[in-house]
Amino acid sequence: MSRAACLLVIISLMSPAAEALDNGLALKPTMGWLHWERFMCNIDCDTDPNNCISERLYMQMADVMVKEGWKEAGYEYVCIDDCWPSHQRDAQGRLQADPKRFPGGIKKLADYIHSKGLKLGIYADVGDKTCAGYPGSLGYYEKDAQTFADWDVDLLKFDGCFMNRALLGEGYINMSKALNNTGRPILYSCEWPLYEWPLKQPNYTAIRETCNHWRNFDDVFDSWSSVKSILDWTAAHQDIIVPAAGPGGWNDPDMLVIGNFGLSHDQQESQMALWAIMASPLLMSNDLRDICPRSKELLQNKRIIDISQDSMGKQGYRTAKGNDFEVWEKPLSKNRLAIAVLNKLETGGPRGFNIGAAPGWKICGPQCNVTQILPQYKEMGVQTQQSKIIVSVNPSGTALLTVTPISSDFRRLHKLNWQGTFVRRKHTIL
Ligand code: GLA
Repeated sequence: MSRAACLLVIISLMSPAAEALDNGLALKPTMGWLHWERFMCNIDCDTDPNNCISERLYMQMADVMVKEGWKEAGYEYVCIDDCWPSHQRDAQGRLQADPKRFPGGIKKLADYIHSKGLKLGIYADVGDKTCAGYPGSLGYYEKDAQTFADWDVDLLKFDGCFMNRALLGEGYINMSKALNNTGRPILYSCEWPLYEWPLKQPNYTAIRETCNHWRNFDDVFDSWSSVKSILDWTAAHQDIIVPAAGPGGWNDPDMLVIGNFGLSHDQQESQMALWAIMASPLLMSNDLRDICPRSKELLQNKRIIDISQDSMGKQGYRTAKGNDFEVWEKPLSKNRLAIAVLNKLETGGPRGFNIGAAPGWKICGPQCNVTQILPQYKEMGVQTQQSKIIVSVNPSGTALLTVTPISSDFRRLHKLNWQGTFVRRKHTIL
């Protein structure tokens, strides 16, 4: 067995390095929508009422999520990012929403989102101020946690700006406790490691015990170079960060920017495929009111979402690299495997890759069933370890496949039951 294949077997047997935050949430990577990358800190509701950070934006997004199949596809959280609060706390020291942009207040917005069967996320900061300069939570962790619980908020993204880096961990842990003490299950999304990396290697055991997901690296931008930099960082640090991921706690490579302006369709497929392989939260930052049908179909692709949400909850690894291809593999439940082949060459046309060269293809012995999901859905049928399947991958695009091993038992049963009709339910999955 090659070293990479051996690594994959070991990975699939390993459970995450530490206990997850025990709040019963994020047992699968979180799915939803988050305003930041697309709408940023647009607070100009006078000239841009359609796109400014206001209660209307989240209500409209929730409406579309229900009407256009997003909720049904699994996208559940509608999340507010920075720039929602008033610059002043209220007389009791509580955060309050900007009264002009959120006339109904956050509690009413939460009620609305809940009435649609969705959940509401909010944003705050561990330090003195948020990254965009709104009031931070330092000195107010209990009060802010209670305020969010009183408003029936379901998720908190807790940023790390304007904080003494030596006290980051303490701050994140204290907010985690404060949220827990409210008794309301509030999914806790952290940026602790992102702000700690410049100082030291973060303690992922502690992070996993504290947070439901955690950002490690730079903010995603609407560009292929940004998506690539996130993939490169992840692969370079995979031995440290991947073992920390599992049900209850996930590495967060930031939002999906599919459906915006900067990525070609192939690049959008690459982001979707690789985010699924990385068992990342799938938080879209786009305008669901106006999205092209191909991007929508990609974001709602059930087969890709199934890879992301697989019950085993293993984050995938980059298992091979060469000739400007990268192979990323994610172990799935029932001994299956997802394989993504990324063509990193940004010139020329489609290039062929022999999928038998993927380290995980070993599980195809003696036989396996192969399904191609991207670039097109195709059942490739029963294959062997010796099969030579060439997948065609466009520049900066990705081919995504699942491989299901077939036990020798299957073939025995297959023969025994062969009476002119194929007895499919005897199909044994290892
Ligand atoms: C930081 C975070 C972003 C976003 C902005 C808001 O940069 O990493 O995701 O929340 O702050 O100001």
